[in-house]
Amino acid sequence: MTGKLVVVSNRIPTGATPSGGLVVAVHDALTRSGGLWVGAHPDEGTPDQDGLTEIASGDYTRLAFHLTPEEYDSYYLGFANSVLWPLCHGRVDLVDIERGFEETYLAVNARVARLLADQIGEGDIVWVHDYHFLPLASELRKLGITARIGFFLHIPFPPLGALSTLPSPDDFAEWLSAYDLVGLQTRRDTASCLEMFRADPRAEFMTDGSVKFRDRSVSVRSFPIGIDAESFAEAAAVEGPDAELGIDMHEDLVIGVDRLDYSKGLPNRFRAFGKFLDSRAGTGRRASLLQIAPPTRERVAAYRAIRTELEEIAGRLNGEHAELDWTPIRYIHRGVERDTLARLHRRARACLVTSLADGMNLVAKEYVAAQDPEDPGVLILSRFAGAAEDMTEALLVNPYDIDETSEAIETAITMPLEERRRRHAHSLGVVHATNVTDWAQSFVSCLKTCTPTLDYRR
Ligand code: G6P
Repeated sequence: MTGKLVVVSNRIPTGATPSGGLVVAVHDALTRSGGLWVGAHPDEGTPDQDGLTEIASGDYTRLAFHLTPEEYDSYYLGFANSVLWPLCHGRVDLVDIERGFEETYLAVNARVARLLADQIGEGDIVWVHDYHFLPLASELRKLGITARIGFFLHIPFPPLGALSTLPSPDDFAEWLSAYDLVGLQTRRDTASCLEMFRADPRAEFMTDGSVKFRDRSVSVRSFPIGIDAESFAEAAAVEGPDAELGIDMHEDLVIGVDRLDYSKGLPNRFRAFGKFLDSRAGTGRRASLLQIAPPTRERVAAYRAIRTELEEIAGRLNGEHAELDWTPIRYIHRGVERDTLARLHRRARACLVTSLADGMNLVAKEYVAAQDPEDPGVLILSRFAGAAEDMTEALLVNPYDIDETSEAIETAITMPLEERRRRHAHSLGVVHATNVTDWAQSFVSCLKTCTPTLDYRR
């Protein structure tokens, strides 16, 4: 089989050297193998335009489909980010069911399938990413596409009960069964996905572990995503004055880096840091939290609400604890360039990852990769991040428990060197074992071994 790799994801890089977990991973895989990447045009809600536009291609081709402003609202902000995202992150209370959302989501998937079908040649394999495109394979199958199609979900798989929140709960299994391979971040997500199929009378379990659903069979497996640890470590080790990073050498730096999303547990993190500051009051020992939180999906009400809440807590805590020459919480509401971020990680004594739900969380892996193994900082990691399944020697916390998280900050900052080295060596082993190149390669080779689909148009 000598076909090309065709990748589909909503977000697609526009520059020559992309940054960000999924985008870097897929970029590397396509640079090696050549092929095609299809995604949404970066200009939000571009006027109605049919067909695919070529953007910034290099070693491989990048083609973008266009969304009308209405589609952007109902497909991206609506069904993807106001229904599926909260559903998968355990926030059923935030799910916003509006009739037009699912309709538009299905219509966009059907249109992308039509555009994609013209691009898929003999022997090609198709790799679809994330919750924006759950029904894409089923739409491609309707058009007679028999190519191997794999799906990778970057976010947590929803628990069985939560699926009932969807307008048509049975669709989820139907959509996924049109793929040959479904990849998930963790063993726990795999178990949840299999549980959904087990509860479905249309599914049958085969002796090879695959699931037969009507006339098709689908394999479900975990492929924990990772980072390019070498290049991140290299960027982190670049020497430069602390002042250039805005860091005071006399204080302990604790870092947090997250999109400003309600799933990241930022208010609880700030409250825990506040308790920690309380516990240090009057001791003269200073520690600062640097929180980098770039904006995301700001037209969704829940995202505006979390921003207001966080700014209120940060303002209050700084008001209580700041001194003339010291601000304990520095909160930056924008992204920071990757190389600077790597150096900040290396300088930080501890990193706080306190997600209430998270597919993997690559910040945890970047922080570990950035450390000096001789004098490493300590990762404080939520039990609810996918990364915690393997990074068992991080300081694992329940982010709902403010006292426990606050104590973990003290433990991290005062941890003896030997213990820091031992824990870091274990975490670094995990980071190396799950590097991003192997992640992409193992998914693609597993997909290639799947038995091809028969044309099942009905
Ligand atoms: C998560 C999702 C990605 C998404 C990213 C940024 O990591 O799994 O699919 O691209 O967030 O979100 P955005 O809505 O800005 O693309």
